[in-house]
Amino acid sequence: MSKEDPRLMEKIVSLCKRRGFIYPSSEIYGGLAGFWDYGHYGVRLKENVCCAWWQSFVYDEKNVFGLDSSIIINPQVWEASGHVSGFTDPLETGEQFNVMFKTSVGAAEESTISYLRPETAQGIFVNFKNVIDSHHPELPFGVAQIGKAFRNEIAPRGFLFRKREFEQMELEYFVREKDWKEYFEKWWAKMRTFAETVGISGVYELEVEESGRAHYSKKTIDFEFDYPFGRRELWGLAYRTDFDLKNHSASSGTNLQYFDEETGERFTPHVIEPSLGVDRTILAILISAYAEDELGGETRTYLKLAKNIAPIRAAVFPLLKNKPELVSKAREVYSIIKKDVPNIEFDDNGNIGKRYRRQDEIGTPFCVTIDFDTLEDDTVTVRDRDTGEQERIKIVDLKESLR
Ligand code: GAP
Repeated sequence: MSKEDPRLMEKIVSLCKRRGFIYPSSEIYGGLAGFWDYGHYGVRLKENVCCAWWQSFVYDEKNVFGLDSSIIINPQVWEASGHVSGFTDPLETGEQFNVMFKTSVGAAEESTISYLRPETAQGIFVNFKNVIDSHHPELPFGVAQIGKAFRNEIAPRGFLFRKREFEQMELEYFVREKDWKEYFEKWWAKMRTFAETVGISGVYELEVEESGRAHYSKKTIDFEFDYPFGRRELWGLAYRTDFDLKNHSASSGTNLQYFDEETGERFTPHVIEPSLGVDRTILAILISAYAEDELGGETRTYLKLAKNIAPIRAAVFPLLKNKPELVSKAREVYSIIKKDVPNIEFDDNGNIGKRYRRQDEIGTPFCVTIDFDTLEDDTVTVRDRDTGEQERIKIVDLKESLR
């Protein structure tokens, strides 16, 4: 099915609900626009996406530190960052509407107005000194975090595309000013590779003109994707200069400069920021993976998810669920593989055709069936999700063939 087909979105939303990936939030009360809940397979898919990002942006790097900062922070942060005055979208009346969610902290009279963070980045800037004091890193170095962000979007739409509560994977990478171009290129390439790793096909890169850039950015690349409702932003890469650290230094009175022990210089580092929305990533993955074909004379739907991202790597079935000897052998095979491939599932619901259809829709790359031959020769069949072809494999070789 073509990515531009408007029916595709409906089909994906319906599959996500039917199979337990994503549900409309508080649906029994009619839902709430811009809010969605992740179900069992959605949680696993999200976890795999976040792990792949953390592996590539943190663990594979020499000098990137992790952080998990608070969602609600001192409101002065949002004054200094420019969000209180400038994080607005125009209403139909032409008025500017600030999209930060306000909340109050503390008991009624002494309460302070604060905000749910609209980006995770500021939590990183305000911890800059802590990270330096703990780790004494040499430049360049980065601080990464994955977490929720909130925006009271005027027009939430497009399923996971524009939500009011969403998740970001952000890295603030601190560099010497003269090196910004080199590291901008480096993270640009990493983002491209990440799209391939998670199985997003058809990403376009667009340099954003000055008028379209955020207030803090001197250069921005938008990674765009063809959603069924048109080509729109997927992720952003920005050169934030020293805007944030300088403003927080001035507003907080805390020196946020970097001290170079070798040269004795003190200066404010510049920042390269790859910012990736988790939910938009998942939407682009689902759109890239959604497929329909004919198999064995029947039409079927399947998700062609990359193996490292699929919520379930393999499902293990007994051919017939009313034959105790097959069920117990299937349980035994399941326990053997689970040691090496933890994200497997035992499935004996319905008949085998139904199980294949369910696993295809979840995007499970392999189905392992235990049949009467297994009892004789310790072999099983392994069915490939994309081709539907089955191969007989020895149980001892299963681990390798599920890679
Ligand atoms: N710290 C930079 C920043 O927040 P942004 O372009 O406003 O920049 C970064 O957001 C990414 O967060 C976007 O590219 C997108 O992937 C995701 N994002 C932003 N607003 C979103 C929303 N309302 N719903 C879902 N994802 C959103």
